[in-house]
Amino acid sequence: MANSYLVVILPGDGIGPEIVDATLEILETVQTLSGRFALIYELHQAGAACYRETGATITTEALEAFQRAHATLKGPVGLPDVRRPDGTEAGLLGGELRVRFDLFANIRPIRLYPGVASPLHGMAPDDIDYVILRENCEGLYLSRGVGITTPQAATDTLMVTERGCTRISRQAFELARNKQRGAPADGKRRVTLVDKSNVLRSFAFFRRIFLEIADEYPEVEAECLHMDAAAAALVNRPGHFQIIVTENMFGDILSDLGGATIGGLGMCPGANIGEKLAYFEPIHGSAPDIAGRNLANPTSQILAAAMMLKHLGEEEAADLLEKAVWSVYAEKRIPITRTGAVEGGAPVVTKQLKDVLQGIANSL
Ligand code: IPM
Ligand code: MN
Repeated sequence: MANSYLVVILPGDGIGPEIVDATLEILETVQTLSGRFALIYELHQAGAACYRETGATITTEALEAFQRAHATLKGPVGLPDVRRPDGTEAGLLGGELRVRFDLFANIRPIRLYPGVASPLHGMAPDDIDYVILRENCEGLYLSRGVGITTPQAATDTLMVTERGCTRISRQAFELARNKQRGAPADGKRRVTLVDKSNVLRSFAFFRRIFLEIADEYPEVEAECLHMDAAAAALVNRPGHFQIIVTENMFGDILSDLGGATIGGLGMCPGANIGEKLAYFEPIHGSAPDIAGRNLANPTSQILAAAMMLKHLGEEEAADLLEKAVWSVYAEKRIPITRTGAVEGGAPVVTKQLKDVLQGIANSL
C-alpha cells in the first residue's frame, strides 16, 4: 500500500502559479516512477492577490489546512504595489506562517550545479555546497509590525532568546552531522556561526549559547565569524563552509548573496521547519516583471519539492528528483540567459526534466 500525504499548495503571486504548476507536473512523474507514495493536494490562496481580494494575506481555510497537512508547498508571494498602510509589503507570509506556527528552522541549501555560470572564477560543480540555517522566528524580524514610528524617528528591536539560540544551534550541528558531505574545500564537518558579537550584546548572547552547544558535538568543528567578514568569505572562499547558522535578517541577506554565487536565486530552495509543521518554497520573490512570459526558472520550486519529499520520508524519490535536476543541468538542457531567466521558462524545464526522469527510470 502506497503512503499518501496531504500537501497544501499555495501557488502565490507573479511567477508563482507557473513554477508551481511545473513542479506539480514533475511530482506527478516522480510519483508514477516511484509507485511508492501518493500526494493528495489541497489548493489554497495566500499572498498579495489574496490580500487585495480578501483583506488578509492568507485565508482562514488555508491556515486551517496548513495545520492538517503533512507539508505545504508554497510559491513565491508578494507584489510591490500591494502595501499595508505602514508602507510594508502586504503579501508576505513570513509572519503569518513562520512565526505563527513556530517554524524556527529555515534551511537554505546553496549548491553550485553543473552548467550554471557562477560569477566567481574557477568554480567547478559542487565547489560551493553549504547550507544556510537561518533562525526564522526571532532576531530583528521579530519586530515585524511592532516597531515604533513617530514623525521624528523609527525603531525596530532585535531580540534573541535562550530557547531560540539553543534550538537553532543544535539544529545546525545535527545538519552538519547528517549532511552527506563536509565542506567542499577540506571535507570537514563544520558549523559557522555568523554574528556581530563585537558590537551587539544580543549577538554575544547568541555566541555564548552556540559555543555551549558546540561542546556537545566534538566531531563537528565550530567557528564564529562576523557578518561583514562572512559576506566577504562567501565570495572569496565559499568552499570553506558546510553549515552556516545565523540570526533571521543576516540569514535573509546571506542567502541571497549565496544564491548569487551559484547562478541566482532561481537555483535556491528553502525549507521552513518547526516541531510538527513545515513548508517548502523558493527563496526568491514573485518576479512580477517576468510573470506570464515563459521566462521564469522553476528549478528553485522543484528543488523545494525535493526537500519536501525528503521531509516526508520519501528519500528515494527526493534523491531521484535531485539527481534528475543535476543531470538536466550537467547536460546543458536548460537555456539559461545571463540574467538567470530561462528561454521558454517552466514548460522547457518541465519537458527536459521529464525526459531525464524517464531516462533514469529506464536505466534502473
Ligand atoms: C525570504 C524573503 C522574506 C523574508 C520576505 C519576502 C518577507 O525575503 O524568505 O527570504 O524576508 O524572510
Ligand atoms: Mn529574502
